[in-house]
Amino acid sequence: MKKIWWKEAVVYQIYPRSFMDSNGDGFGDLRGIISKVDYLKELGIDTVWLNPVYKSPQDDNGYDISDYRNILEAFGTLEDFKELLSLLHKNGIRLIMDLVVNHSSDEHNWFVESRKSKDNKYRDYYIWRDGKNGKEPNNWTSFFSGKAWEYDEQTDQYYLHLFSKKQPDLNWENPQLRQEVYDLMNYWLEMGIDGFRMDVINMISKVQDFPDSVHTGGSIIGGEYYSNGPRLHEFLQEMHANCFEKFNNAMTVGEAGATAEIARLLVGEDRNELNMLIHFEHMGWDTGDGELGKWERVHRGLPAFKEIFTRWHKVLHNIGWNSLYLSNHDQPRFVSRFGNDTTYRVESAKMLATMLFTMQGTPFVYQGDELGTTNAYFTDIKDYRDIETLNMWKDFVETRGYDPEKMMKAIHFMGRDNARTPMQWDDSENAGFTTGTPWIKVNPRYKEINAKNAMADENSVFHYYKKLIRLRKENEVAVYGDFTEFYNEHEALYVYLRTLEGSAQKLLVCLNFSDKQQSFVLPKDIKFKTSKLYVSNYENDGEAKDKEMKPYEAVAYLLD
Ligand code: GLC
Repeated sequence: MKKIWWKEAVVYQIYPRSFMDSNGDGFGDLRGIISKVDYLKELGIDTVWLNPVYKSPQDDNGYDISDYRNILEAFGTLEDFKELLSLLHKNGIRLIMDLVVNHSSDEHNWFVESRKSKDNKYRDYYIWRDGKNGKEPNNWTSFFSGKAWEYDEQTDQYYLHLFSKKQPDLNWENPQLRQEVYDLMNYWLEMGIDGFRMDVINMISKVQDFPDSVHTGGSIIGGEYYSNGPRLHEFLQEMHANCFEKFNNAMTVGEAGATAEIARLLVGEDRNELNMLIHFEHMGWDTGDGELGKWERVHRGLPAFKEIFTRWHKVLHNIGWNSLYLSNHDQPRFVSRFGNDTTYRVESAKMLATMLFTMQGTPFVYQGDELGTTNAYFTDIKDYRDIETLNMWKDFVETRGYDPEKMMKAIHFMGRDNARTPMQWDDSENAGFTTGTPWIKVNPRYKEINAKNAMADENSVFHYYKKLIRLRKENEVAVYGDFTEFYNEHEALYVYLRTLEGSAQKLLVCLNFSDKQQSFVLPKDIKFKTSKLYVSNYENDGEAKDKEMKPYEAVAYLLD
């Protein structure tokens, strides 16, 4: 397998509006990030993914871009951006930007023009269709509730928006639009950025006759006609030829709801499409597929969870690369979701982090996860800001009369704002994030869970992350090793071995996903002469042997 920097990287995801506010307006900004580069360096990460900082009306917190080449004033200026980029580079940290080109903002000049008339030069930059019998062109729904089409009186047609109605979908069938996208990508690449995380990139190619979907049982209707659509691979290869042939050291990570089989095409190393995906299979492990969609919690058991990771490993090994993540700005905090955020908060956060750093793929750390931050669990809908959550509430509670208590529970489980609260820097007011009023309330547990405490405590989640990051850099087997799972039917333990071709070194990992003690029996077919402790979240000696695993214990050994 080809060795390259982005396979060995550890990515830290910064959600800029919640990371650090430098000017007291309650909104995080670029100068705030600049003031925290030392913190990133201390943690040991080497790549930053910045969520969108472009000009935007912020209908979907920046995923609605009105100017792709400039920075939103609230975040700072282009000069601030360049300063941040060069400071990061000076510290050996690379920067990847968010690329949001499935849709733009309705306030983007292209759309302002496009909606003016059917013969406007920009008309075809978006997807306009006639209604059918006085209704939408088809039955597709938006990810943010309601229909995916919005009627526009001016020209008596509908435009498609898979997300909010302020996020009209761009028409990738139009070669001119595609060229505009490649040009703006090159603009940032020429400025010196190190790659892109590409927002819902697998949705850019739609089936052109826009048929009605017959699969109407779920919450999202129509996906089979635009998810991994007919021209996706062609578009990505064209993008590669126009951008990454020249900037061939850049990193590309596509957000894509895809199966592992489709992923082989998207990230296959000989295909010139993408380097890795942010896929969703493990994010669907505990959510439903009925009317409530992601808002319904389903219990499928650990074997089903492990099966997903193991399968992706197998399918992609020696074919292409992948990313590894357990949370981000669209997901709840992983310690609350997959671990235990009360009695075993620290233990379970460390156990899950152990998994993140000992599998094949590039680990992504979402800001605050390195502190073991929990969900925010706000109880009043007025404290939420996320358009997805608020639209869901309007739709299910206010319109359809669902039980508000049940839906608040659903928000506690899945709401995106759980992870979008301000970074908890210390125990001062607003967790040290701002001297003003934060745009969203701070997590109520900030006095206990914050960076200052964590950095001062050598047993903290923070120090454990530092160690995992360092170890991954020092041990190739953790990055490039193949993967074998043991006891795949076990309901509580995840046991696997990483082995590196041409090397005697092996990494054995055992993770206890339960709050009960579990017996671990060393798999018989693992042969080794010596063993030493790689990492553990409890006291352990270096001998790999049968043992009782404590609640949420993680232990990994290097075998020789
Ligand atoms: C992606 C982003 C999410 C956004 C959506 C629409 O899933 O991560 O935050 O709301 O795309 O752009």
